[in-house]
Amino acid sequence: MTKFHAAFEKLPADLDRNRLPKHVAVIMDGNGRWAKSRGMPRFIGHQKGVDALKNLLRCCKDWGIPALTAYAFSTENWGRPTEEVEFLMTLFERVLRLELQEMMKENVKLRFVGNLVSLPKSLQEEIYKSMEATANNQGIEFTVATNYGGREEIIQATRAIAQLVREGDISPDDIDENLFENHLYTAGLSSPDLLIRSSGEMRLSNFLLWQIAYAEIYVTPVMWPDFDRLQFYKALLAYQQRDRRFGKL
Ligand code: FPP
Repeated sequence: MTKFHAAFEKLPADLDRNRLPKHVAVIMDGNGRWAKSRGMPRFIGHQKGVDALKNLLRCCKDWGIPALTAYAFSTENWGRPTEEVEFLMTLFERVLRLELQEMMKENVKLRFVGNLVSLPKSLQEEIYKSMEATANNQGIEFTVATNYGGREEIIQATRAIAQLVREGDISPDDIDENLFENHLYTAGLSSPDLLIRSSGEMRLSNFLLWQIAYAEIYVTPVMWPDFDRLQFYKALLAYQQRDRRFGKL
């Protein structure tokens, strides 16, 4: 273990264990720029991005944060060059295949959210296999948004609810926040308390539009492959300095 890792193995003493976010969401931006600035092809940045995500998942477990959600691929990302899209799909599939055993050992409950039916068949198979295998794990809830779009999620929930009304199962008056949430891809998952975005961009990029209504947003200029335990510690320190009022005084 490196000296750096050892220093951050346990929750740093100046973080309050009782005021940690229960759910952290991350927009992992900057993989391409990280690689380019080192004269490397973009795909190396994505590979390093996977390492950073794995380290963050382990860190959440070590520090007692029960849920992590990561934005891996947006509905808009199909617009990237074909080779990059294909690389990412193959990368997701390979990571799932290689990491399933480790996730079982670490007691990770894995869930994919998004429009999964449009993903390559072989990736879908790995996704369903790993979700099924980890369904009863209780160590940490790890959610990966893949082919995910917040607006699309809201529309598909609205459609499902409209169908219930049409079939007479519910009346329009039955539609409330609770019912709506239960029709989102994230049904059953608590809303994120903290949203972290790397590489400095101040945008939500169609991520968890409903769910982050009251999340604290933390943007760091650090590129995603460089987002390590020190950076996460800084994000949590900033989070604990915020005054979360949820619209009250
Ligand atoms: C954004 O960087 C990153 C992505 C679009 C892909 C992120 C995916 C991973 C890190 C892999 C996750 C894998 C699993 C299986 C959960 P960018 O390409 O937009 O970077 P740029 O803004 O510098 O171009």
